[in-house]
Amino acid sequence: MNPRQLYIETVGCQMNVLDSEMVVASLRKRGYELTHELEQADAILFNTCSVREQSENKTYSALGRLRQFKKRHPEKIIGVLGCMAQKDQKLVFDRAPFVDLVVGPGQLHQVPDLLDEIAAGSGPKMAVSLGRRDGTLDEIKRSHETFDPLRDPTMRPTPFQAYLRIQIGCDKFCTYCVVPMTRGPEQGRPPEQIVAEARTLADQGCVEITLLGQTVNSYRYASGGKTTRLADLLTSLHEIDGIRRLKFVTNFPKDMTNELLTAVRDLPKVSSYLHVPAQSGSNRILQLMKRGYTVEDYREMMGRLREFVPGAAVSSDFIVGFCGETDDEYQLTAELVKECRFKNSFIFKYSERGGTKAAEMLPDDVPFEVKQQRNNDLLAIQNAISEEDNQAFLGRTVEVLVEGPSKQQGADAGLAEEGHVLQLVGRTSCDRIVVFEGTPRQVGQFLPLAIYDVSPHTLFGAVLTHEHRPELSEFAVVRLQV
Ligand code: 5AD
Ligand code: SF4
Repeated sequence: MNPRQLYIETVGCQMNVLDSEMVVASLRKRGYELTHELEQADAILFNTCSVREQSENKTYSALGRLRQFKKRHPEKIIGVLGCMAQKDQKLVFDRAPFVDLVVGPGQLHQVPDLLDEIAAGSGPKMAVSLGRRDGTLDEIKRSHETFDPLRDPTMRPTPFQAYLRIQIGCDKFCTYCVVPMTRGPEQGRPPEQIVAEARTLADQGCVEITLLGQTVNSYRYASGGKTTRLADLLTSLHEIDGIRRLKFVTNFPKDMTNELLTAVRDLPKVSSYLHVPAQSGSNRILQLMKRGYTVEDYREMMGRLREFVPGAAVSSDFIVGFCGETDDEYQLTAELVKECRFKNSFIFKYSERGGTKAAEMLPDDVPFEVKQQRNNDLLAIQNAISEEDNQAFLGRTVEVLVEGPSKQQGADAGLAEEGHVLQLVGRTSCDRIVVFEGTPRQVGQFLPLAIYDVSPHTLFGAVLTHEHRPELSEFAVVRLQV
């Protein structure tokens, strides 16, 4: 029998990228092969995101484009996975009646069986986890557990970099956010499982691991009278031969302990890069968001961070135009960005999400144009800071892990032969992207690069070798674009 063909599209956060890797691994075990052609696919899966309405709209439009296609190919199975599946459940079938399969993030292990059942004529199937009020805490937790040990190196962004989930779900219940509903209660995975998975990844040639959790620094696992926290986990993972770089995202400001900052400072494999979303610079808005800290708390945390890990790169997330946000309150956010000098910030316009406290209690009353204007303004402030701070890298040498061809090189990269020069992208330990000219052989290596130019989000460098150390000025004339 010919192998069945799988087409999968993934949107959203790193968790989703990891979930798709697991789904593909489980389907390969059942004899599926990946295809990039819809026409060839037996199963077409969308791994979706619900954090903002825009991502849902994009998925529903992509599904809409398959309406006629499904009429022509009724035998092809169309599935919606991930957070939007968990949030919308039956609504997905209402909005796209030709969908065969709806599976939430906690039920992805069922995908192979469900596809078999549908192929055998069962009709549409849905597998979702329990809602936050639909059982005992243990029952709800179990229904959101994931099946992490299945890995598929070919599905990673690169074979030598991998995500590793250490925590499932979230218990912070920020009033704007769907994640506590779609991914369920916060649960730390057992440290032995995490370390074993990291060893497997190292054996597969992975040199960089990014630990994932919605509030990764709140990680705790208690067993036999002993509690393991993120700092302990980093210490254990640091021992693994082959692993050269450890990162972790996303941090919650209130849970940034001195023990963790000390681990970041003292463990050389741990990147001095910390993503710590502030969300707003106004105490009234932070309170409406139910973030559990004040701007003063955030500042205090930043002070400790800078003191413990001098030179650390810090990035943040902000939501502009949250319910009732005034111009003055937005200005406080702008002030915080200027004061903290983040390496970069991800800025989002508030998007009301059904099922959240904010949607229930607070009117989404900041006009779209005002949200857009604050978004642009904050982005401009951040970009200016990013560019200024990147200037400090001019003339310096940085070490990067080479990730692969640059976006611009993109499509032609497959044509590159050994020895051929192409535009590559690497990342420093402080998460800065560096574009440089190199050869395909260098992908996956750690290389020293001399920086000769900078833009807000990119450094431009040249490979330094012992034999050949060109003057920096030689490179100053070439300006590459990503
Ligand atoms: N609207 C806009 N942005 C949101 N985020 C989460 N929920 C929403 C929402 N309803 C942003 C937060 C979070 C990031 C992942 O997405 O800034 O940190
Ligand atoms: Fe959402 Fe807040 Fe949890 Fe982050 S901490 S996933 S923003 S509820």
